[in-house]
Amino acid sequence: MGRKALIAANWKMYKTPAEAADFVKAFLPLVAGHTRDEIALFPSPVLLPTVVAACAGSNVAVGAQNIYFAEEGAYTGETSVGQLKAIGGTHTLIGHSERRQCFAETDEIVNKKLHTALKHGLIPVVCIGEVLEEREAGKTADVLKTQVTGAFVGITPEAAAPIVIAYEPVWAIGTGKTATPEMAVEAHRIIRAEVAKLLGADVAANIRILYGGSVKPENATSLIGEEEIDGALVGGASLKADSFEKIVKY
Ligand code: 13P
Repeated sequence: MGRKALIAANWKMYKTPAEAADFVKAFLPLVAGHTRDEIALFPSPVLLPTVVAACAGSNVAVGAQNIYFAEEGAYTGETSVGQLKAIGGTHTLIGHSERRQCFAETDEIVNKKLHTALKHGLIPVVCIGEVLEEREAGKTADVLKTQVTGAFVGITPEAAAPIVIAYEPVWAIGTGKTATPEMAVEAHRIIRAEVAKLLGADVAANIRILYGGSVKPENATSLIGEEEIDGALVGGASLKADSFEKIVKY
């Protein structure tokens, strides 16, 4: 297939600038020369300038955990794509389940953010995934299809190339419960089929779909080793350089 894996660290609301700088100092030598996979760090907004500067010239990209869809304006507390790009950020997460659950982000908002990110040349990582009740009710496929369809409204095949999707079952996030490789593969196939329906077979064949949810050094190989799984979005286990290194080198 030739899809290059992306191994991404979502630091959530952890680390001070000094701790972030220490991480990068320890981490870069551990992954120097690692070209098999792409590597990206997603720190909090206040850490971004520190982390971008520390990663400059390395094989580690840096992105935001969230951006706003408006270009600029009176939106207290938000970060624009222009601001992110001006300090050297290249990627952004969009629609992480914590944004959806704690900050009421809808598929419509995710869609607007995706349009803005693509317009400005960012690499967007669109996060989707079902909650436990939905899985137990047999609704996983429907939820994933709805989220993909909602996120991709008005996106053309020509514009879609940079998009990355992260499948993060909400019940696996921060719980220590991981989807089995079989469960993740099944979900990824549903997502890829939906992308094919919306944007065509070529886009679907090339789009990277990451798995996220309690990825650890111990389970990284069995998950990312699957042909269908094009990398990982890692929370807790990405906070320590040696732990994240082991996942990068799954
Ligand atoms: P954990 O790896 O801590 O489960 O978090 C996953 C996640 O939400 C990454 O975005």
